[in-house]
Amino acid sequence: MSIHKSTSFLNNDGIDELKPTRAKRVSSLSLSDQWGGSMTKLTDLNSSTNLKKSGSKSSFSSSRRGSSVIRTKREVIDHQRVASYAFAFDIDGVIVRGPETIPEAVEALKLLNGENKYNIKVPYIFITNGGGRSEAARCKELSTRLGIEVTQDQVIQGHTPMRDLVNVYKNVLVVGGVGDTCRKVAEEYGFKNVYIPLDIMKWNPSVSPYYNLTEEDLKVTKDADFSKIPIDGILVFADSRNWAADQQIILELLLSKKGVMGTISETFDQGPPIYFAHSDFVWATDYKLTRYGMGALQVSIAALYQEHTGKELKVTRFGKPQRGTFRYANKVLGKWRKDVLDDYLEKNDLNDDDLEDDDVAEQVDEGLRKQNGDFVDSDSEDEEDDDEPLTVQKLGQVSLDLPPASTVYFVGDTPESDIRFANSHDTSWHSILVKTGVYKDGSVPKYQPKHTCENVLEAVKYAIEREHQLELKEWNESAVDVPVVKTEKEVVGDDEEAVSEGVDRLKLSNRDDGKPKATFGL
Ligand code: G3P
Ligand code: MG
Repeated sequence: MSIHKSTSFLNNDGIDELKPTRAKRVSSLSLSDQWGGSMTKLTDLNSSTNLKKSGSKSSFSSSRRGSSVIRTKREVIDHQRVASYAFAFDIDGVIVRGPETIPEAVEALKLLNGENKYNIKVPYIFITNGGGRSEAARCKELSTRLGIEVTQDQVIQGHTPMRDLVNVYKNVLVVGGVGDTCRKVAEEYGFKNVYIPLDIMKWNPSVSPYYNLTEEDLKVTKDADFSKIPIDGILVFADSRNWAADQQIILELLLSKKGVMGTISETFDQGPPIYFAHSDFVWATDYKLTRYGMGALQVSIAALYQEHTGKELKVTRFGKPQRGTFRYANKVLGKWRKDVLDDYLEKNDLNDDDLEDDDVAEQVDEGLRKQNGDFVDSDSEDEEDDDEPLTVQKLGQVSLDLPPASTVYFVGDTPESDIRFANSHDTSWHSILVKTGVYKDGSVPKYQPKHTCENVLEAVKYAIEREHQLELKEWNESAVDVPVVKTEKEVVGDDEEAVSEGVDRLKLSNRDDGKPKATFGL
């Protein structure tokens, strides 16, 4: 008796063979502190990860000036700032479950928006394999459910990267979703001739003998002669609402001559290519068991194709865990992190004029003003404002890009797509598995997360604490000890001692907003 080794129709994408990489180590200090924002406008020229803004907002590839970092040791960092790390969330099973919003999600996002004890704002995006509606509609719904503003720049759906196919195919068949919503999404992306299976069924109802078009269907159909119009590409955007009819039509086209309905290729290799927005075999709804998803349709089509032709169906996949989607997500996240930092700079009125050489002293915190060892304590701000500004050494210019996120926490509920996605491409991504969706407590996940949590709120709290420790460690490594508060008289007498402590005629004290107070003697 021969034993057949079963092969998966889904797990043949090579993702498991990928070796995640990481280009370089990235600072855990907040972006705003690296840039030189609230704590110190004097940034360390020697630090390869420091940022400097240029242009009206932050522009990280243009010239910048560095200078010396002044930090005092801390036990907690809690001044307002923008994190160097970031979050990416899966949606179904993490943020929502069918019509229900997972209650902890609301609090989790508040924390990331800065309402946390460390006053840190953490950029985040959403990467869902779901779709079937426009990114704008998705954002609107998320915003309403979560009571926050989610913008289109923060959301990637399974079919979002298919935008890039707009100039590749003239006539496309878009499959899935309700009515003609996916047609509209594809048109919004820029596709010119978008057809849906209902158009084909209207053209010839015998294509799908067991389905009769309803009045509703007819309202959204287009008239076209598919014996003449070749379908150049099949794009499965969203879950099929009519598996029988959709499969029948997809298979016919795959086996056709150049995508013309009613034709058959003898070699089975003349049909149009097929793309799937994702490959989730199952997904989580408000029902107690998971439901079959687009991956299951993919398996079904591939099995039928193989049975019919004896060949393996070639497909192109998007969505998690695919590399194309990972690259796309990284671009979106990079842009969003920059936007969040820009917004922070704008709100804190840190425009580029601050960086003019002649104005460098003005960008120095009020606490960095008094000269020649004069002591400044935290109650003497008004007095300091009248003092002569400190002249700071003018330094050269360097050109740097916004560094990648120090860590990207990816929170998902499906090991096969989410955890695999976060584990496979870049070691700086930190996978967190939650128990509110597909994965159920007690089972062994097929792909091991770096961390497992009950829900998204726990995941966010875990990451914020973890990152605060990393930030604190790095901060303190480059910080000076806070000098003992002394009277002005004592300070003058201790000048030499201060030098020997490496403080070099600098007297520092902490302020609540994280800005060090210091005096330089130059
Ligand atoms: O159909 C699967 C889809 O709903 C999964 O969405 O957000 O869990 O990637 P998500
Ligand atoms: Mg999910």
